[in-house]
Order: sequence, then structure tokens, then C-alpha cells
Amino acid sequence: MRTQVGIVGAGPAGLLLGHLLHLRGVESVVLEDRSREYVEQRIRAGVLEHGTVELLVESGVGERLQQEGLVHEGIELRFAGRGHRIPLTELTGKSITIYGQQEVVKDLIRARLDAGLPLLFEVGNVTLHELESEQPAIRFRHDGEEQELRCDVVAGCDGFHGISRDSIPAGELQVFSREYPFAWLGILAQVAPSSDELIYCYSDRGFALHSMRSPELTRLYLQCTPDEDPDAWPDERIWEELQARFALPGWKLGEGPILEKGVTGMRSFVVEPIRYGRLYLAGDAAHIVPPTGAKGLNLAAADVRILADALAHWYRTGDTARLDAYSETCLRRVWRAEHFSWWMTSMLHRHGADPFESRLQLSQLEYVSSSRAAATSLAENYVGLERV
Ligand code: FAD
Ligand code: PHB
Repeated sequence: MRTQVGIVGAGPAGLLLGHLLHLRGVESVVLEDRSREYVEQRIRAGVLEHGTVELLVESGVGERLQQEGLVHEGIELRFAGRGHRIPLTELTGKSITIYGQQEVVKDLIRARLDAGLPLLFEVGNVTLHELESEQPAIRFRHDGEEQELRCDVVAGCDGFHGISRDSIPAGELQVFSREYPFAWLGILAQVAPSSDELIYCYSDRGFALHSMRSPELTRLYLQCTPDEDPDAWPDERIWEELQARFALPGWKLGEGPILEKGVTGMRSFVVEPIRYGRLYLAGDAAHIVPPTGAKGLNLAAADVRILADALAHWYRTGDTARLDAYSETCLRRVWRAEHFSWWMTSMLHRHGADPFESRLQLSQLEYVSSSRAAATSLAENYVGLERV
């Protein structure tokens, strides 16, 4: 088998890259180790930046997103028994859209299959070869047979636990990382959201987040320990804890059947550069942010837009300048998102019982809730930077 761009991973990064390349006349093959059902059901991100929505709509995969996505013009910060609205749109002119990541994935899979483009699920033993050469290869197992895909370029879009990043020889990458001493227990509940907007809540008992997926589905998270066993959280305990953290006079958190429950670790992670020879990393394969800034999926989309444009330019003109600049171009946005996500995480989570730390957090929360300049800085980062 041969193609122009071999894409490892059918998450948002790999699928969107394949789609953008197709629109630019470049061939690709997408290889995914899980089943279609699995990737379409995996519940993850929910917040799309203004620029991500624009990219999906412009590239013709935004129809359902425009019909079903919930456009939000503000978020609430809740702390010390009060709620404060950050009016995102008033401060920045931009909004965000709530639309589940798995819905983006479904729309992209449908578009790829409708166009008759190659997308292989349940591939095994994926390995990368001759990345320094002009014809790198991807070997894998599919339908019980060993296969080799020769390409001009490999795109490593296989997430944080994929094989692409680890195929780069030790010593070629600089690694920057931070682990946090907490995690999120997330649930999806069959109940109408209790607020029209997202609520980021700081409390003595730890962070909590109220989000949503539709007028009938609420998505909720609460700070827990990284080794938390979800089985230690029967439904009653989850609701009790959420009620205690969100408590506000005159406000009630609606409860309903819990459809899904899971624990997500939190880390910050970046490698530099995000290219080695003919291998280009994109999305979570190259960088991770803690979810408090809602940036991961948006960064993945920003990376692949830059990569698709750089590859198309190279095929058209033979000029490698944009490909050569790929890593640096992406990393500017990545580091802004790393800082913002770290900052939101540090401001909103309980770090042990250090009273000095909690006073600093409360002071910072008061500041962003009362100063237009500070609120604008949060809002600008939250809705996302302009495209480059
Ligand atoms: P992935 O989605 O991880 O996709 C990688 C794909 O590669 C997967 O399908 C995987 O199965 C496949 N794969 C792995 N190994 C191989 C292999 N060897 N061969 C072939 N395929 C392979 N981001 C936001 O922007 N906003 C949010 O609100 C937000 N909330 C989040 C909430 C939670 C609970 C979590 C966990 C994440 C959240 N994120 C959020 C982050 C976001 O989900 C990720 O950043 C996003 O999924 C990155 O996309 P990706 O395509 O790079 O990686
Ligand atoms: C979500 O809806 O899943 C979500 C929203 C905001 C975040 C993280 C996750 O910061």
C-alpha cells in the first residue's frame, strides 16, 4: 500500500487532518487501533472555541454542530458562596460552543466514509520505520494480515498513549511535564442542566464543574485523588458531594440517573520539537493540558489545520518552509494554552490544606471576577487565540 500521508489515530486530530488534506487534494490513509463504536462513544471534551467551530463549518462538517451545538456567551465562576459571571462575548466579541467531542468524531467519520476514503479500524501492532528517509513506512496488522503502508509523511495523531512519539529516538525530544496531585471524577447524568452556562466552582471541599451536552444531559466533574476508585463513589455519594460543593442559596443542582462515570488524571506535557524527520506529531500525541481550560481538542484542531496547510503548500510548490516551521508555529499556541490551563487548574483546585494557598486562590478569583481587565484576560484565553 502507498499513500501521501499516513495518519496514525482516528481521534479528532487524525480525522480532521485527513478531512482537511482531502479538501486540499492530498491523499491519506487513517489507521485506528480501536473499533468505530468505541471511538464514537468515548465521552471526552465538550467545549469548542470559536475558531474550532469556524474551521469545522468552513470545511463542510459543521452542519449538525450548527443545529445541535449550544452557543454560550459566558461562564460562571462560583466561590465563597457567590456566583460571578464572566461575559465572554461582551469582553471578546466571541462565543464558545458546547458540542461533544464524540459528535465531532462521528461527523468526521461519516464525512470520510461518504467520500469513500480509507479509514481502517481495529489495526494492531502499529510500528513506524525509516522516519528519516523520504519514504517512511507504517507496519500494522489488519484482518489477521501484516501490512505495510509506504508514505511521504507520517502524521502521529495517536494521542498521549500512542506509539508515534515513542518512535522518535531518545535524546531527540525535550520533554516538559507536570503531574497534578488530583484528578476529576466525571459523570454524565440524564437531567436538564441546572444553569444555562458552565459553572467552574472552587470550594473548601475541592473543585467542581457543571457542564452539559444537550437540554436533557448534564455533564459534571468533581476533583478527586488520582488513584480514586470510581466504585467507591456510588451515585448517592456523588450527588451529595456535588450538592455540597455547588451549594448556593436559592440554587439547586438537578439530579437524575447517572449514565456514565469515570476518573481522568490531570497533567501538563509538551515535547519539543513536535517533528522528527518525516514524522509530524499533532494533538495529544505532542502535548497534554489539564482539562480545566477546555483546550485539548481545540489545540488538536489548531495543529492539524497548520499541518494540512503546510503539507498542501509543499505538494503544490515543493517549498518546505511551512513544514519546517510547523513545530514552532504550533508551539506558540500550545504554550499559551499550557499556561492558561495550568493557571485555571491552580486557581480552582484544592491543594492540600495550605491556608496560605487558599487565600491566594480566593484573592485571584475575586480579582478576575471584579476587574474588567483581569476578566478580559481570562475570557480571551478561554474563547481562544486568533488563528495564525
Ligand atoms: P485522541 O482523542 O486521544 O485520539 C487518538 C486516537 O489514536 C484514539 O482514537 C486512539 O484510540 C488512537 N490510537 C492510540 N494508539 C494508537 C495506535 N498505536 N495505532 C492506531 N491508533 C492509535 N479538550 C477540550 O478542548 N475541551 C474540553 O472541554 C475537554 N475536556 C476534556 C474532558 C476530559 C474528561 C478529557 C479526558 C479530555 C478533555 N479534553 C478537552 C481533551 C481532549 O479530549 C483531547 O485533547 C483530544 O481528544 C485530543 O485529540 P487527539 O485526536 O489528539 O487524541
Ligand atoms: C465538558 O463539558 O466536558 C468540559 C467542559 C469544560 C471543561 C472541561 C470539560 O473545562
